[in-house]
Amino acid sequence: MIKVGIVVGSLRKESFSRRIATNVATLFPEGYETEFVEIGNLPLYNEEYDGNSPAEYNSFRNTVKGVDAVLFVTPEYNRSVPGVLKNAIDVGSRPYGESVWEAKPAAVISQSISNLSGFGANHHLRQSLTFLNMPVVQQPEVYLANSPDLLDENGKINNEGTVQFLQSFVDTFVELIKRYQ
Ligand code: FNR
Repeated sequence: MIKVGIVVGSLRKESFSRRIATNVATLFPEGYETEFVEIGNLPLYNEEYDGNSPAEYNSFRNTVKGVDAVLFVTPEYNRSVPGVLKNAIDVGSRPYGESVWEAKPAAVISQSISNLSGFGANHHLRQSLTFLNMPVVQQPEVYLANSPDLLDENGKINNEGTVQFLQSFVDTFVELIKRYQ
């Protein structure tokens, strides 16, 4: 079984990012399982912790180590990546030389409640992932605009066109993951 970790860049219970991620999780084929990797309990990264990490860091790093690939689904905050997501990336990247992100295939979805669609967050995130040596799905790029209009009252994506587009994105991600197995 190939494991895909899903990291959501919002901590809100009613997060559109999380709802979208829940929809995308159902699009992976047989032989793949998804697991949400929670980041809300991670203390702010401090390099002084490197020799003596908080238990939350160890648990998070072990979870990421245990997945074969990572899907990031995130909103944009102030034209960039939400701090909580950047913190998780930093925690996973250290101690130096022990990054748990190393060489794991990744994919990025950004979303926004407006028609901006999170371009800034999407590309700032890609900048970190490139540095962390994660091969990232390049095309199709996924920028989801006006998220509240995309979801029905049960949190399901309400139009076939978007589902098909996300399916093609997941299919491409799966091909990328296979190259690294
Ligand atoms: C936002 N929002 C936002 N939206 C956007 O398209 N570009 C932006 O730069 C920002 N900046 C921003 C900063 C902060 C601090 C907040 C709280 C919000 C709005 C954002 O798209 C909206 O709150 C989403 O609903 C957040 O995603 P979740 O929490 O629903 O996943």
